[in-house]
Amino acid sequence: MTTVPASPLPRFPRDFLWGVSTSAQQIEGAVDEDGRGPSAWDVFTARPGRVKDGSDARVATGHYHRYREDVALLKGLGVGAYRFSVAWPRVVPAGRGAVNGAGLDFYDRLVDELLAAGVRPVATLFHWDTPQPLEEAGGWLRRETAEHFAAYAEVVAARLGDRVAHWITLNEPAELTLLGYGLGQHAPGRELVFDALPAAHHQLLGHGLAVQALRARGVRSIGIANSHGPTWPASAAEADTAAADLYDLLLNRLFADPVLLGRYPDEDLAALLPGPVADDLRIISEPLDWYGINYYQPTLVGAPDPAAAGPADFGGISLPPELPFAPREIEGYPRTDFGWPVVPEALTELLLSFRERYGASLPPVMITENGCAYEGVEDGARIAFLDGHLRSLHEAMDAGVDVRGYFVWSLMDNFEWAEGYARRFGLVHIDFSTLVRTPKASYRWLRDALRDQARG
Ligand code: NOJ
Repeated sequence: MTTVPASPLPRFPRDFLWGVSTSAQQIEGAVDEDGRGPSAWDVFTARPGRVKDGSDARVATGHYHRYREDVALLKGLGVGAYRFSVAWPRVVPAGRGAVNGAGLDFYDRLVDELLAAGVRPVATLFHWDTPQPLEEAGGWLRRETAEHFAAYAEVVAARLGDRVAHWITLNEPAELTLLGYGLGQHAPGRELVFDALPAAHHQLLGHGLAVQALRARGVRSIGIANSHGPTWPASAAEADTAAADLYDLLLNRLFADPVLLGRYPDEDLAALLPGPVADDLRIISEPLDWYGINYYQPTLVGAPDPAAAGPADFGGISLPPELPFAPREIEGYPRTDFGWPVVPEALTELLLSFRERYGASLPPVMITENGCAYEGVEDGARIAFLDGHLRSLHEAMDAGVDVRGYFVWSLMDNFEWAEGYARRFGLVHIDFSTLVRTPKASYRWLRDALRDQARG
């Protein structure tokens, strides 16, 4: 049993934005109600063997019908903001063309409910649920998808732009590129390895076009939620540092450099991308109001082991031995149920490295996700995780990094992609057979910590 930290958290600025995050595919369910079209994830989960516990997201947490109860939980928690995602296939079922008014109505009701509860809505426009008709046409491998995405962004902004405080274009394009198009472990299940790179470029282009579409609609607070973590080389040997550098390039710099610096981190890599890359980069680097970082863990990376017999299991992801880098186990730290190492101080390291690399090109930062998978409602280990990461975040802020908000992943247990319902990231427990919601010890801890902060 992990003991609950005794000393109060350091004081965060008065206007610091405290929040929790979710995403549509992971919580809503109701996948074929009120005109929603199929998503690539609906189709992927229907294929046997794709989700480890054989589950799908047809019901998930039932949030579509229980959103009032969930907003009440947010209110009880005392967070200032709630980050949710809008399901593209609910709003534009074919991905392009006809708009489904009933789909927009749902988000309209949700936003009003949040505002009535005194919680600021933070809307993510895309959290991996590509409309299936677009996926069948090539999905993010095609440039047109970026254009359809911007048109959809405009539709959502036209309806919600007067009430949604902050907007996020994309969630973790790196994971969709690597796991969805590169390795086939997420939807759409393509195994293109390095030929997946156009999916990265087109998502980034979609991001830039959506920023333009949102601004044209008068939206003022726009960011992106990119996943980042420090990459540590397994040793000082040249083969290991080169492998770690390539990993860092593909998972961190490939997604941050174009957005923040208007260039790709490597010319050879840029040459592999579908163009016109230079023109696109001007769109991709539209200045942002803030930059969102999803942080979970650092990664220790070395050269591949030529003797490795088959795929290596790495935190739930199976990595083929032919990749030019091999993540290794990080020893000496506690682990979550997912096997991910708990390294709070790596969040300070990450933020300082961002300031170092991007300097004045880095807008204010928001931590758009941070959290951990643990069983049980007496989840002292989650409390220790959050406490440690908040102290680490505060340290980065003390060192001068301008961080404006922190969002816990997640409000409640939900559909954890290829892991199904087996990994529980929530502050609120969900009984997936009854959909009963039970706040965990971590929910009460965060509620009390926020009250304490508010007393200032
Ligand atoms: C990041 C993703 O955005 C989210 O959907 C996922 O559930 C968490 N990581 C935990 O794996």
